[in-house]
Parts: sequence; C-alpha cells; structure tokens
Amino acid sequence: MSARQIRHPRIAALRRELDEHNYRYYVLDNPVIPDAEYDRLFRELQDLERQFPEQITPDSPTQRVGAAPASALATVVHHQAMLSLDNAFSEQQVVAFDRRICEALEVDSVVYSAEPKLDGLAVNLMYQQGRLVCAATRGDGQRGEDITHNIRTIHSVPLRLRGTDWPQQLEVRGEVFMPKAGFAAFNRQAQAQDERVFANPRNAAAGSLRQLDPEITRQRPLDVFCYGVGAYGGAALPDSHSALLMQLRDWGLKICPERQQLANIEQCLAYYRDLLQRRDALAYEIDGVVYKVDRLAWQRHLGHVARAPRWALAHKFPAQEKLTTVRAIEVQVGRTGALTPVARLEPVDVGGVTVTNATLHNLDEIRRKDVRVGDTVTVRRAGDVIPEIVAVLSERRPADSRLFTMPDHCPVCGSEVRRIDDEAVFRCMGGLFCAAQRRQALSHFVSRRALDIEGVGAKLIEQLVAGDWVRSPADLYRLDLATLTGLERMGEKSATKVLAAIAASKPTTLARFLYALGIREVGETTAQTLANAFGTLEAIMHADEATLQALPDIGPKVAQQVRAFFAEAHNREVIEQLQAVGVQWPEHQTQTLEPTLKGQTFVLTGTLDTLSRDQAKARLQALGAKVSSSVSKKTDYVVVGANPGSKLTQAQSLGVQIIDEAQLLRLLG
Ligand code: IVH
Repeated sequence: MSARQIRHPRIAALRRELDEHNYRYYVLDNPVIPDAEYDRLFRELQDLERQFPEQITPDSPTQRVGAAPASALATVVHHQAMLSLDNAFSEQQVVAFDRRICEALEVDSVVYSAEPKLDGLAVNLMYQQGRLVCAATRGDGQRGEDITHNIRTIHSVPLRLRGTDWPQQLEVRGEVFMPKAGFAAFNRQAQAQDERVFANPRNAAAGSLRQLDPEITRQRPLDVFCYGVGAYGGAALPDSHSALLMQLRDWGLKICPERQQLANIEQCLAYYRDLLQRRDALAYEIDGVVYKVDRLAWQRHLGHVARAPRWALAHKFPAQEKLTTVRAIEVQVGRTGALTPVARLEPVDVGGVTVTNATLHNLDEIRRKDVRVGDTVTVRRAGDVIPEIVAVLSERRPADSRLFTMPDHCPVCGSEVRRIDDEAVFRCMGGLFCAAQRRQALSHFVSRRALDIEGVGAKLIEQLVAGDWVRSPADLYRLDLATLTGLERMGEKSATKVLAAIAASKPTTLARFLYALGIREVGETTAQTLANAFGTLEAIMHADEATLQALPDIGPKVAQQVRAFFAEAHNREVIEQLQAVGVQWPEHQTQTLEPTLKGQTFVLTGTLDTLSRDQAKARLQALGAKVSSSVSKKTDYVVVGANPGSKLTQAQSLGVQIIDEAQLLRLLG
C-alpha cells in the first residue's frame, strides 16, 4: 500500500467532529461550540486537505456550504444560488480587499454599500407577479427548506408587493432575526414554563423558522431585513446596490436603517468602528459589517469564486462567545442571604475583555446546563451583562469532573442554608449576623439612591464589618474620629469628611429610608408608592397584607415581604435605633395629588433636558400613570428626548401619540 492511501487520522477526526457540529447547528439549531471554535476546526481541516489533496473526498465538510436540508420540510431549489461571504478579522484584511478590487477595476477608489452583518438566518423570498409564493432557507446555497408557512407569519414580510413596477419573478434575499428584547422575553417565559431556552437570538430565529407548525412560529417575535436579490425576472436592475435597496423598500420590503453608502474604504472602517461601539445599543444582534461594491456593473465584472462573491466582504466583530474551562464553582452570599453559585474560569478574552467568572444563577440552572468543575464550556459576554455559560461540551468532559452541590452551611458565617418552599434560591439563615449580608446591607444603605452617604465605599465597609465596629446601619451614626483614623488608609481629613457625610444623611425622605432598609422585593418605585400611599412609617408598619395589596403594583409577594420584614423584632429595633440617632424625614401628606393620569400608559425614550428618567417616571407614577418599557398598541404617549431609540419608530408605526418634554411637563402640571 502506498503512503498516499493511508488515511490521515486527524483529517478523519476533524471531519467527524465537524459533521457533528454541522448537525447540531443546522438540524438541531443547538450548537455546542462557539462559531469561532468551529471556524478554527474548519480551517485546520482545510489546511490539512491542502497538504494532502488526494485525501479530499466529496463528503468532506469543506466540500459544501452549510448542510444539506434534513427535515420533514420540503426542499426548494433557488433560482439563483445563495452565496456566502468571505470574512475579514482585521483592518489590514479589509484594506487588502479594497486594494484587490481597485486593481481589478483599475480605479483609485470604490464606493461601497456598508451594512450590519445581521446575526440571524438567511432566507430567500420568491415573489411572482408581486405575490409571495415561496420562502426558503439558504440550505446548501443551491437548495434550501421550504419555510413559506412560517415566513408568512412575520408581519414585516409583505405577502404582496406595493407598486406595480416589480419584475414578474423576484427573489429577495434577507435575514430573519429575533430582536434582543423579544429573545430575552421568550427565554424568560420558556424558562418559567420549564421549556427549552435558546442560547442566543440566532438559534432562536433558526429554531423558530424550522418549525413544522406555523402557529408556533407566529408566537415568536421575528423580524426581517432584506439586503439583496437573486433572480430578477430578466428586468433591468438599478445601477447600484444602494438604489436596489431603495427600490426594495419602495416595494414594501424592510431594509436595515443602519445601512449606508460610503465613498471609500476609509469611511467603511470608520463605519465599522462606530457600529462596533453602538453594537450593544442596537435592538438586534449583529456580528460584524458587510461591505459591498455599490455599482452593480462592477459587481458583475468582479464575479465570484467558489462560494463567495469577490465584490463583498464580511468584517467580523470580535467573538462574543469563546471556549474555556471551569476551574471551580464557588458560592457568593448576597444582601438578602441568597447563595449564588459562580463559576471560576480559566481566564479567556471575550470580545476584548478578560473573563474569569460567570454567574450560574442558581442550582436549578447548574443542573439544567449540567455544568461541572473541569468542564469545557462556551462563555458568552454581550454588552455589559455579566458573562454567562451558554453550554457545556459534554464530549470534552474529563473523567474526574465533579458535580456541584450547594453547601448546607454558609461559606461566610457558617449559618444553616435553607431552600424555602418552591423558591429556586438557597439562603443563608444568618441574617445580619452573616458578615457578607451585613456588608452588602450596609453598602445598600449608604448607596446614592438610599441614604446617599458619600465616601463610605466597599473598602471602608469591609473594614468596619471585619473589625466589628458596625453591626447595623445605626452603628454608622455612632462612629467617631478615633475609630475611623485607626483604620487603614484613613487620615484625619478623610475621616472628618466621612463623619460629616454620615451626619448630613440624617435628614432624608420616607421613600429613601424605606428603600435603604433593603426589604426584599421593595425597590425604589415600590418604596415611593408606599410612602405616597401611607404617608408615615407607622402606617406602613401596621398595614396588613390586604391593605398593601390594594396599592398599584403591589402584589401578594411584595406585600408578604413587607409584612415579614416589619414583623421581625430585630428589624423594628434597627429602625428605632436609626430614629434615635437622628435619622428623620418630613411627615408625608398622603397622596394629595389628583391621579389625573390614571389609566394612561407612558413610554420614555431618549434623554430629557430637565428631568432624569427616574424623575419623569416618579412624577408620572405619582399622578397614577403607568410607565412601561416597551411600546405597544396600548401605549398612550411616547415621550421623546434627545437621541431616541427604536421606541420612536415603533411609536410612529403604531400611530401612538408622540410628545416632547415640554408637553410632558404640561401634563405633569
Ligand atoms: S449578503 C452574496 N448582507 O451572512 C452576498 N449577507 O456569510 C450574500 N448576512 O448567508 C450575502 N447580514 O445570512 C449579506 N447585510 C448582509 C448580511 C448577510 C447577514 C449573512 C447571510 C449570509 C451570510 C454570509
């Protein structure tokens, strides 16, 4: 046997692994490795196949684009192939792309159309005589799956084109995606009902589109942006890609509002940087930007190689998902004693930030994801949310991996740990005896929206608790200069300042005081509601659950926590002590304001000039209005400040009344 015929073991292993990941990605919509890791394996196989070309087989994952359709859905042949895009990961690669193009066209610079690279699922929408007759996934580029029944449930896909000047046969190419807000809401609901959650919006979009039952798809918040065409019925195309998109828009198809026509590649790079900065603020996920030579005649001249056009390039953003391993799982004790497991990770760079910890939320979550110490996991960091573990690669689990169990005693104070009734959380029963709870209760008490004591930071609290100088918030008011100057890094000057800040916090408001107490389920808004409704602390302390529940936005859970808090002798003692050391507030007049806005729903977007968002919200609520975070048909007013978000466009499309700050102030009297 000649050496040439010996199968390379790594090639075989890579093919098996890639096939498995392809299957999970395309068929199950449930990939377990990040795209970046898939790309790495794919490139490794490509490199090996370049070295050993005789070992390339037609069934190698490198020999096709994506995966063949594999489901009960019918197969659709695209009139024109759906191509893929070449990727660039650096500015140099982008500049090299532009240079190649300029050389091939013999010009000095090229006008581009730049668009976000949407992280969803590519679709082909076939219109005949202006009617949507078929919609398909990309599949292997030649043939995809028939998802017409599902696409028809997406409201932004026109079933009939506007106007009359469309080609008789028109293939529209676009991306179906699930906006971030819809994705979060969907997962929250799925989790509450113990149903399957999706790792990211793209999987959610793919999973939703590949349903056999359109009723399921209809309930998923999907949207579409169109970015190109395939077959064009032999009609004459416009001159440029930009003009083509405007044309599609006139026909009623939805175009991404972020797309721009740019004069040269430098502007493209500036566009990339700008979008990368704004990435988290966008309502949908993008994983880079796409540059396309704008002039269609030039696109035709440049043509394509294998699976990707020469005239387009995807400039990818740094990956938001990476692989790493779990070194340990530890528990943290929160302000209310809740034990939160945290995964300590092998440090890994995710999108430019080193990630070393990921929250695991609670024991149910750990069991659901089956995370064990020693596991290889995908971590995801999007925006400023806390990094989280998306999935475990069970095939890489070491034999000595360890199952996590909740400790039965608090790791900080040794008190008993209990899981109360059907709650997901375990709690340390130590209360303010537990140093962790005490520290955080104090941090909360001094925080800006509570008693706002400046200069008392986490470091100082740490020392005060460790030295047992402060056991309850009231002890703060009994500190003296000698005690403070005895602490590390505390000179006389700063100590004096701290004492002054503590003294200055004594006059406060009832709402702040209530919030500062750290009653579970009582945030700022609830504290304000209670203060407005009852006027005095006495009245709140004596209110029964039914009276509490009669208030807007106070349900049984909140009412029960308020009752339980004041029923605790220890808590009443702390309150007495605080009053004894001089913390005080003006007696409130119970809600003297007429609830003139009762029953009206407001949504705020953008920055107002004179009111902060919290102030606007509080004042609206004081008049009985409801302030919601999303626009719907039920919204009465959308208040628009500077740099409004997508809520403005939503309001416009739903015909909701839009007002500015001046009008709001008039409504508030
Ligand atoms: S154009 C011939 N434009 O990226 C050009 N694709 O990697 C074909 N995608 O399958 C695609 N946003 O799912 C184009 N603005 C955009 C895009 C975009 C996302 C996806 C699409 C395609 C994949 C190629």
